Amino acid sequence: MHHAELIDLTRRLPKAELHLHIEGTLEPEMIFALAERNRVSIPYASVEELRAAYAFTNLQSFLDLYYAGASVLLQEEDFFDMAFAYFERAHADGVVHAEIFVDPQTHTQRGVPVATVFAGLARARRVAFERFGMSSQLIVCFLRHLSEADAFDTLEACAAHRNEFVGVGLDSSEVGHPPEKFERVFANARAMGLRVVAHAGEEGPPEYIWSALNTLKAERIDHGVRCLEDEALVAELVAKQMPLTVCPLSNLKLCVVNDMAKHPLKKMLDQGLAAMVNSDDPAYFGGYLMANFAACIRALDIDEAAVRKLCANSIQASFMPQAWKAERLSDVQA
Ligand code: HPA
Ligand code: ZN
Repeated sequence: MHHAELIDLTRRLPKAELHLHIEGTLEPEMIFALAERNRVSIPYASVEELRAAYAFTNLQSFLDLYYAGASVLLQEEDFFDMAFAYFERAHADGVVHAEIFVDPQTHTQRGVPVATVFAGLARARRVAFERFGMSSQLIVCFLRHLSEADAFDTLEACAAHRNEFVGVGLDSSEVGHPPEKFERVFANARAMGLRVVAHAGEEGPPEYIWSALNTLKAERIDHGVRCLEDEALVAELVAKQMPLTVCPLSNLKLCVVNDMAKHPLKKMLDQGLAAMVNSDDPAYFGGYLMANFAACIRALDIDEAAVRKLCANSIQASFMPQAWKAERLSDVQA
């Protein structure tokens, strides 16, 4: 099958997106529109100038712009507009279900109540389900560069909205902020019946993946690409069929890999790891889910069987009920 044909097929297959930061879907055009609507000033003269600043050298250089971009989000309708724009694009890419990260601390630190954030996202999720039949869940992420106490406060503030989200995650600056810093927060979250995921092994070493598994009891590892440096860890992740939410264009833009042809996704599949494709922060990294698939299909030796495996892994690794999964899994094979 030619690349173009395989890309078309991939678009039609049902897929779940499991690693998507909603604040990372804020396109430059929307940043400018919301800045004007909310009378927030931003230090860029034009959309083109802002987009030109998206030349990242590592995770932190991206995070600085990502938090600055989020400063235009103030009202419920801002969160709605941002999230609904994502759902439209994801639906066009054949995403049938999305488990979406939100960073409450990015907003509460600016005086925006968590209730405003949850209300806007909930309305977008509802409209996406009604209009596209697309289901979604929210995962509240703690910013790991902030303190354990701050994470506890965030969990407590979100507890009032417990039925709005299914799990907790861990994101932001990885190196120097190992998972065990949040062991007690995650234990509390698990006691609340929340599912647990964590970013680990993006820029951080394999030890951080071990810690996400053993101290946080993570059920999925976000990124996880650096597991390949530790043979015993790979064996453990394969044995457990631990989902790894890989984000190829993110890895390229943040210089985790310096060439798409050197991306480890194919190698991960070949070793039996339960990897799948995600878009992470698509407004900043050069595209949504299908752009990520297309880049992998073109640069790596990803064939039809591998594409179907990636789609199946995404469905299987979601937090949806088993009956729902079984139906989509049979569609992936058909
Ligand atoms: N890594 C860590 N923190 C993040 C990311 C990421 O890829 N995207 C948004 N916050
Ligand atoms: Zn991420």
